[in-house]
Order: sequence, then C-alpha cells, then structure tokens
Amino acid sequence: MDKLTINSYAKLNLYLRVINKRKDGYHNLETLFERINLSDKIILERRSDGKIKILSGSPDIPKDETNLAYRSAALLQKKLKLSEGVNITIKKNIPVASGMGGGSSNAASVLIGLNRLWRLKLSRLQLARIGGQIGSDVPFFIYDCPFALAGGRGDKIKPLNYLRAIRLWHILVVPKIRVSTPLIYKKWDEFTKNNQKSSLTSRKSNVNILLLALKRRDLASISAGLYNSLAPVTTRLYPEITVVIRHLTDLGLKGNLMSGSGPAVFGICSSRKEAQAVSKAMCKRNYRVFWGQTF
Ligand code: C5P
Repeated sequence: MDKLTINSYAKLNLYLRVINKRKDGYHNLETLFERINLSDKIILERRSDGKIKILSGSPDIPKDETNLAYRSAALLQKKLKLSEGVNITIKKNIPVASGMGGGSSNAASVLIGLNRLWRLKLSRLQLARIGGQIGSDVPFFIYDCPFALAGGRGDKIKPLNYLRAIRLWHILVVPKIRVSTPLIYKKWDEFTKNNQKSSLTSRKSNVNILLLALKRRDLASISAGLYNSLAPVTTRLYPEITVVIRHLTDLGLKGNLMSGSGPAVFGICSSRKEAQAVSKAMCKRNYRVFWGQTF
C-alpha cells in the first residue's frame, strides 16, 4: 500500500463549559463533541526520501511545518525514529479557524492514516496521546464516534456509544472572520477576573440534562440545553455573531449556538428539509452557509 485516502470530518461543541485556568496556561473544560458530515479529504502518499510535503489548493492553510497535519507526521517520525516520508494532499471544505476543528481533524486523519501506511501498529490510545500533543481537539477525532464527552483541556475523551444511533440535522453559518483561539481564552481570563462570580460561569448549565435530551432525541430540550462559556466572549469582540443567531431565531430555529471559540454558529433543525430551507434563506442574506448532520 503506497497511497491512502481518508475523509476528515468537522466537529461541533453542543456544550462547552470552561471550568478554570490551569498552571500550564490551558483551561480545564467540560465539553460535548459532535462529529458532523462536513469533511475535508486527505490523501497520503508514501515517500522514500523521508520528506513531508503538504499539498493543497486552499489559500487558507499553511503548507509548511506549522500545519497540524505536517506536525502529526513529523511527530510520528521523531517518536518512532522513522526514515519514511509522505506527501499529504489536503482538499479543504471545512472553513479554516471557524471553531469546527478542521485543522485538528486533519491532524488526526494523518495519524490514523500513517499508522496504516507506515504499518506502525499503534493503538487508539497511543494515537490519541500523540494527538493530544498536537492540539486539544485532536484526540476526539481519533476515536471513531459521533458523540463524546471530553474533560481535561478537551483531550480526555469518553465516547458516548449509547448515542451512536442519534442523528441531528444542522445548519452551519460561518461569518467571514478568523478567530484566534488563544485570544478568546485570554479574554475569558480577563472577563472572569473582573467579575469574581462571573456571569460567564454562573448560568446553571448541566451537561447531563443535554445528554438525556439527546438520548430521547427531544429537540426542544436539546435546543434549551446548548451552552458555550466562550460565546459571550467571542460575541463581544465580533457582534456579527449575535446578528447571525438573531436571523436563525427569526427563521424559526430555537437552538442556535457558537461552536468552540467561534465564529461558526450552528442551529438544530428538525429535518433535512428544514436545514435546506433555512440554509437557502441564509444564503440569500449572503452568509457562508453549510448544512449537514451528525456523522
Ligand atoms: O490545544 P490547541 O493548540 O488547540 O490550543 C490553542 C490555544 O487555545 C492554546 O495555546 C491555549 O491558549 C488555548 N486553549 C486553552 N485551553 C484549552 C484549549 C485551548 O487555553 N482547553
């Protein structure tokens, strides 16, 4: 086997509670990940000269050693003292720096793909640990599951197998701004420092209520249970996110939330038909829009 093609899926955070800042600068989280069927394509081709090359028609991603896909291959080479190289072709569909984990997903796909291409025989747990060194969102994508709870800095994954059969329809709206995740966490720190009992954390949020609603596929309760501590922070910097949510609410969607550190906003739809209809209405307003479902 000299060549391998893998789909690299996006994620949404249906729930994201920032708990506290850690000594290492990261933040402890409680988050519920959902994998969705918006995906990039990753093609891996073996090279015998030991080089790693990133090839992509997308102007939005780096082609050098800062690309998370590059860093994944380089980390495997270094850890296992390998002399093989790889061409990594990335066909990009997931909007970059949007809060949907595209870069992290690409990194996870490279780890999973190279484990096969280079015949490394690493376990899922070993791949997830290596993934965690690349980025906090990478381990989720190593586990092949539609829903997972995560703790730590988002890297400690508990796959939710009892939700395997649940599928949700979504609209995704991505404002044309690039959000820096470190900046949003920094602003969260500032905000919580200024508000001892912060309004960001005081809301009575409980992921268990959302999990129960998901199990029952009770869309009204799912919509009511969506939560993201970072949403007020990113929205304060980029008020257009609030405008997007207002438009979606006006179009009849009750559950709308920013994903991750933003700026992507997703809505919960009752059917494919509703997702398509809302998508069409948002396209008319010149938004960058996608629709899809849990994968
Ligand atoms: O892990 P990742 O590289 O995606 O994180 C990017 C940045 O986001 C970190 O350097 C950190 O500033 C912030 N972050 C954080 N707490 C997390 C995840 C990310 O503070 N749980």
